[in-house]
This record gives sequence, structure tokens and C-alpha cells, in this order.
Amino acid sequence: MGPLQIKELLQQTPDAKSVTLKGWVRTKRESKNAIFIALNDGSTIHNIQAVAAPGQFSAELLLTVTTGSCLKITGQLVASQGSGQAVEVKIDDIFVYGTADVDSYPLQPKRHSLEFLREIAHLRPRTNTFGAILRIRHSLAFAVHQYFNEKGFFYLHTPIITASDAEGAGEMFRVTTLDLDKLPRTDEGVINFKEDFFGREANLTVSGQLEGELGAMALSKIYTFGPTFRAENSNTTRHLAEFWMIEPEMAFFELEDNMELAEDFVKYVIRYALENCKDDLAFLENRLAEEDKNKPQNERSIPLLEKLNFVVENAFERLTYTEAIDILLKSKPHKEKKFQYPVGWGIDLSSEHERYLVEKHFKKPVILTNYPREIKSFYMKLDDDGKTVRAMDVLFPGIGEIIGGSQREDNYEKLLERVHEVGIDPEVIWWYLETRKFGTAPHSGFGLGFERLVLFVTGMSNIRDVIPFPRYPKSAEF
Ligand code: 4AD
Ligand code: MG
Repeated sequence: MGPLQIKELLQQTPDAKSVTLKGWVRTKRESKNAIFIALNDGSTIHNIQAVAAPGQFSAELLLTVTTGSCLKITGQLVASQGSGQAVEVKIDDIFVYGTADVDSYPLQPKRHSLEFLREIAHLRPRTNTFGAILRIRHSLAFAVHQYFNEKGFFYLHTPIITASDAEGAGEMFRVTTLDLDKLPRTDEGVINFKEDFFGREANLTVSGQLEGELGAMALSKIYTFGPTFRAENSNTTRHLAEFWMIEPEMAFFELEDNMELAEDFVKYVIRYALENCKDDLAFLENRLAEEDKNKPQNERSIPLLEKLNFVVENAFERLTYTEAIDILLKSKPHKEKKFQYPVGWGIDLSSEHERYLVEKHFKKPVILTNYPREIKSFYMKLDDDGKTVRAMDVLFPGIGEIIGGSQREDNYEKLLERVHEVGIDPEVIWWYLETRKFGTAPHSGFGLGFERLVLFVTGMSNIRDVIPFPRYPKSAEF
């Protein structure tokens, strides 16, 4: 099934057996005694070195072997003469699949800025940095499925097109087949969505949770892992308009079980990356260290592997929102008026507050619980005091919120009251409300932003660099 990958070839014994390499040229170097071609096929961060003798190939052919060109090389796998690699390939033959013109191929072997690479998202997977990120992203996704499978969860495919606004935030992309130039109107003059494809207003999902809850009320433990869309106009390094979210939902789980699961789950997937992505993580750690060299001592980051190991080995700090507000009120930046946004019970914590708690005060991941009901979604279970809900946010250093979740309101009357309170039409989510009528049960769940996880594990600083083709305001080119 296809040729051996470079990753596999690099692990073989150099016994002069005949091998075929297929990949893209990273560099070509000609010296008096030999021609060296470094080839990469994306299977690993490492290139394989292929060596030819001077004069072995025509100058015409060698001119087409340039950075970015795609080759098939046949030769013998031998022990490398040089340092840096155990094996190399003594070339017998070169076939050029595709050339890459030196004057127009943008990925010449030099350092490129991440901003520039975003403009050539069609080619950036061929760089060491993006190759590493994409392989780590794959491993994390694989670990997600492995974790839930091991724990008896079922992968539930929730719809991409929905008619409900699960988060009640109203930041949705509309899905329609109506002719925008000739919108059908009712007698009252409003757009008549009865004539639209689904016979009603529809949008791209902002969360699979509501349907996920329906699954949990039958299969007990489910998870979703799919694309999620939010039309929030936030041009930040933490937001995408299209991102991937993992949402487990569990019947018979209370808030404490939910926290337990969230912590165990993120530690598991990070550990999986530590064990299975060693070379890529080492490359990214070095990259960060290089970047840090230009920064003053106090702005340098903790080495990547040390940071990841720390998270895996230490218990997350757990406290209530109310306790967190007390800490913030007593904090130096609050007293010295250094926070940009005011602190007080009832505020929606801003990222400066979250980062103070995580990075300055506790110096580890934090799980905040029991937020005021006013700032959280309608579906969260009301605490006995009637003021707070059984919410939980997991906050990570350098990231802020990585997970949001809660125990769900399982009492029909209380849920209906909240639905009215926040102005949702109960008719639109009658099916959701019915789970509380027919065999209701305590249940909980959470959502992990997959790109925020990849951001944390790779140590990158912009979420646009951890998804192959990012979607954000004014950008959907590739
Ligand atoms: O906190 P959020 O909005 O929670 C929910 O959607 C719940 N329905 C989850 C649940 O309980 N099943 O989003 C969950 C996570 C956030 O913590 C964040 O990591 C990520 O999704 N997220 C985003 N990631 C990238 N870009 C965006 N625009 C994001 N919005 C949320
Ligand atoms: Mg949230």
C-alpha cells in the first residue's frame, strides 16, 4: 500500500537495500564531493538525506531539483557519513514529479513570519512548524476518541444545521436558500421563512449540547466532536468563526463528577501528546526558546515540555466564582487600579481577571464554579440559593477559558421559567424541554474548544495558527 514513509525509512537498518523515497525537497546543497538533497514527506519533522555524486545527473535535471519540488528518488539505504542522521540514501535515480520555480515558490529555506504564512495557508503545512502543529493536532483528536471510547462514551453526531440557539448568544450564521435579492415577505412585511428550504429560520450550530443532552438521556454517556460556528466579531488570538468543539454529556453526573471528568480528560490527551509527539514537541519547544531569546528575562515563557508536564502532574485548583471575586478584590492589580475592567460580584470575568487567577495567584489550571445565574446560559442548574448556577469553567495559563460546562437544570418548571426569563420561545425547543417531562435525570456536560487545547499543547500564541484553514472576520480564502 503505497511507498514506505520517510518516518519508517529513518528507523530501518542501513543495509544497502533498495528503497524508494517520495516527497518534497526542503533543501539542496552541492559541494565538491557530493550533492545533498533533504527530502520531507510530512510523515515526520525529520528529513531524509539523499546523496548523489557530482556529475551523476545532468545539470539540466539538477536545475529542476529545487526547494519545494516533488521527487521520486530510488537508491540504497546506507549508514550516513555525516552527523545528524543515522541513515541516508545513496541515489540511483531521480524522477521529478513537479518543479517549484525558485523565483515564485514562496517557501524558500529561511525564516518566515507567522503572519506571512497565514497568507499562504495552502503551502504552510510544508513548513516544519505547521507540519509539527498538524501532526500534534491529529494526535490530540485521536486521543479524544480513544479516551471516550475507553470510558464507555458513544460518539454522537449532532446536526450542523439547527434551528435553535443553544447558547442564547445570538451569534449565528444563517443558513438559507432564499434569493437575497427577492426575499419573500408576509402580509406584515417580514421575511417569510416558511418559504425557505427548511420552512423555518435555520443557522449553523453554535454547540451540539442540546442534542447531546437528548443522546445522554438514552445512552447515558455520549460525546460530540464537530465543527462549531460563531459569528462573534472578535478579532482575538483566542476566537475563530469556525472551530471544533468536544462536548461530552453524561446522565447521572453531578457538577463534581463533571469536574473530575474534565480534569482527567484534558490530562489524558495532553499526556498522549507528550508520549506520541516527542519530536514535534521538541521542535516547537526549541522554536519558542529561540523566540524568547529576544525577550527580557521576565517575559520569557516556561519551556513547553515543562509546562505540559506540570499540568499533567498537578491537581487543578477548584474554587467558586464568589471566592475568586474575593481574591481579585484583595489583589494588588485591583488595589492599584491596574485592571482595565472593574471587579465586583456579578461581573463576567474578563480575560485579565482569569489570567491573574491562573498565572499570578494559583500558578496552575483553575476550575471556577457556581457563577451568577445572570451571566450564564439558561440550561444551567440553579443552586439552592437561587443566585448562582452549577456552572464550571476550566481556565488555563496563557489561554484563559479552555472548557465551559455545567450541571443541567433537570426540573421542568425551573427550566421553563429560565427559558421565559431569557426570552427563548419554548415552542422552538419543545423537544429539549420534553426530556425534563419524560424520565428526567440529573446530568452534566462540558465543551472543550479543540483549538484552544491545540494552542496550549503547541505553545503557539495565535489560534489562527493551529487550524489548517482558519475562518475569522473578513477571511475565508482557502
Ligand atoms: O463556553 P462555551 O460557549 O460553552 C458551550 O458552548 C457549551 N454548550 C458547552 C457545553 O457545556 N456542552 O464554549 C465551550 C468552549 C470554550 O470554553 C472555548 O474553549 C471554546 O469552546 N470556544 C471557542 N473556541 C474558539 N473560537 C471561539 N469563537 C470559541 N467560542 C468558544
Ligand atoms: Mg464559556
